[in-house]
Amino acid sequence: MSKVVLITGASSGLGKATACHLADLGYVVYGTCRNPNQYETPPNYKLISLDLNQPTSIQSAVEELLGEEGRIDVLINNAGSGIIGPMEELEIDALRANFETNCYGPLLLMQKVLPVMRKQKEGFVVSITSIGCAMGLPFRGAYSASKGALSLLTESLRMEVKPFGIKMCTIAPGDFVSDIASRRYYAPQKEQSPYEAIYKRNLATIDAHVSSGIQPEVIAHKIARILPQKNPKVHYRVGAPLQKFSVVLKGILPSRLFEKLLLLFFKN
Ligand SMILES: NC(=O)c1ccc[n+]([C@@H]2O[C@H](COP(=O)([O-])OP(=O)(O)OC[C@H]3O[C@@H](n4cnc5c(N)ncnc54)[C@H](OP(=O)(O)O)[C@@H]3O)[C@@H](O)[C@H]2O)c1
Repeated sequence: MSKVVLITGASSGLGKATACHLADLGYVVYGTCRNPNQYETPPNYKLISLDLNQPTSIQSAVEELLGEEGRIDVLINNAGSGIIGPMEELEIDALRANFETNCYGPLLLMQKVLPVMRKQKEGFVVSITSIGCAMGLPFRGAYSASKGALSLLTESLRMEVKPFGIKMCTIAPGDFVSDIASRRYYAPQKEQSPYEAIYKRNLATIDAHVSSGIQPEVIAHKIARILPQKNPKVHYRVGAPLQKFSVVLKGILPSRLFEKLLLLFFKN
């Protein structure tokens, strides 16, 4: 019997590439996005509506899938959104909305799917975090924090669900080519902001990294290799060698030296 996959954020970028690849491999794939009518029907998977900032929408998507397939073997928490701006000037409501998309929404979705997987006595949940969740990045503190929260939640949950045959891991991407910059929330610039010049320099560097990033298919293939594993790792990092190594460096370098390197890297 083909395994049934639910993957959020399948209208674009990493999620679209992963949905396509898993469907090609024979999985039955349900991808989600907020408004499927906005997109062409994908050739080999179904695109249904799910807004992570709307709890009722999360419930309806799970019910729709269960009504049609009766089971969920794999959940991939891929959808997420960027948020950027000087932390001093960021509106708290924007931060809340980002946590809703990147952390609370995925947790609520897991809460809906885990009972199904427990009944099946098996299941696999993969959450897409970010290499940026291992460190506070300048002007991306909100993003690092919401993805970091999802990463830690996963560490805890994984131990809680292990006795029920459910596997869980995170995949932390480095920079990948996608539409993330166009969906990102940009904190409105304050007039005569003292951060203006330095923030603009940072933003240019960040956008250049994304547009020269790795192709999303690399993540798709990585996920396909992880899903059949009996004993997956807790965290996987996928990205350019320097980005992956930055997490190791953070663990071994004196904190002030690591900070100096980050500031140089982002041209502060
Ligand atoms: N690209 C990178 O360099 C990079 C690096 C590290 C981590 N990541 C993470 O990788 C994941 C995929 O990102 P991507 O780069 O592929 O970005 P993307 O091209 O912008 O795709 C994001 C997907 O998430 C969906 N989405 C956004 N907000 C949503 C919401 N509130 N509710 C439901 N769905 C929502 C979007 O669908 P609609 O807009 O159609 O609803 C879209 O399908 C994200 O979690 C991102 O944080 C990406």
